[in-house]
Amino acid sequence: MKAQVITRFGEPEVFEAREVDSPSAGPGQVLVRVAVAAVNPLDAKIRGGALSSMFPTTFPAVLGNEIAGVVEAVGAGVTEPSVGERVVGFAPSGGYAELVVTTPDRVVRVPDALPLTKAATIPTAAETAQRALALLDARAGETVVVNAAAGSVGSAAVQLLTAAGVRVIGTASEVNHDYVRALGATPVRYGDHLIADLALAAPDGVDAAFDAGGRGFADQMLTLVEPARIVTIVDFAAARLGVQIAAGDPFAVDARSLAPVLDLAVQGRFATEVAGVVPFDGVAEAHRRSEDGHLRGKLLVHVADIAGANA
Ligand SMILES: NC(=O)c1ccc[n+]([C@@H]2O[C@H](COP(=O)([O-])OP(=O)(O)OC[C@H]3O[C@@H](n4cnc5c(N)ncnc54)[C@H](OP(=O)(O)O)[C@@H]3O)[C@@H](O)[C@H]2O)c1
Repeated sequence: MKAQVITRFGEPEVFEAREVDSPSAGPGQVLVRVAVAAVNPLDAKIRGGALSSMFPTTFPAVLGNEIAGVVEAVGAGVTEPSVGERVVGFAPSGGYAELVVTTPDRVVRVPDALPLTKAATIPTAAETAQRALALLDARAGETVVVNAAAGSVGSAAVQLLTAAGVRVIGTASEVNHDYVRALGATPVRYGDHLIADLALAAPDGVDAAFDAGGRGFADQMLTLVEPARIVTIVDFAAARLGVQIAAGDPFAVDARSLAPVLDLAVQGRFATEVAGVVPFDGVAEAHRRSEDGHLRGKLLVHVADIAGANA
């Protein structure tokens, strides 16, 4: 099969398209033929070697952990999903490849009405937002600031919070303010402008904050809310201040809890933007764009057309 492989850590140029042995589904495993793979900031951090102690990498390595495709085969003991079903979820064997091996709990069936390209934008964004918001425990009627509200995780958090009756103020570059407004939040600028913008947007104060952007946001919010009402997914050093850290193992995520979010997507009540779709040989370019840090939504890698899969 074709795969985008790295044989060393480095800049995006380390990706090489190679023919590698096709994997097969062992007992308890699921083999998925990949239509699209999503690009996440984590992929670039692993590629660059910054996280080698947390995520040890054996070369040659296939990166990418989020895919949508069609079940090609299942191993002994697997009753669900079935061969031929469209699924989305997580692929610890590496998503930038034509075939991936995963486990039944790491994938979930994609509703018929949802294109695979739409489905592929959802798992990491929604799972991370759900996990972080469970810690934040925001109530209807409260006001919550979401940092990086136009990003994948931030935009998912905005939608989940507003659906729960929470008032959301979202930070973003000004070019994304209309987008943040359309998601249901009041947009403000991040960085030096944040505190002054918040004074205008929320004169009665804010109750809690969710940080998907880092860069000192948690420290700024500590001037406005209790540390226990701040949750970050990026600024792990903020734990010293009493801020809550929502860390998770991206390679051991149970995707089945995402079924309700996929249903909301079918109803048009939840969406992560597709920031772009690059061809299979465009993985390096996708990493450059992701590392630039200003994506609105999720970048996808088109891996293959799968007949009848409604990609
Ligand atoms: N702990 C976990 O379990 C977990 C899980 C998933 C992701 N993450 C991490 O969470 C972060 C966000 O992931 P993502 O997939 O949502 O990324 P993304 O889709 O690439 O979005 C990045 C966002 O960051 C915003 N941004 C850029 N500069 C900023 C600044 N100075 N202050 C505030 N926001 C800024 C950008 O907003 P503008 O374009 O509007 O400038 C952009 O929307 C990444 O670092 C990722 O590794 C952690």
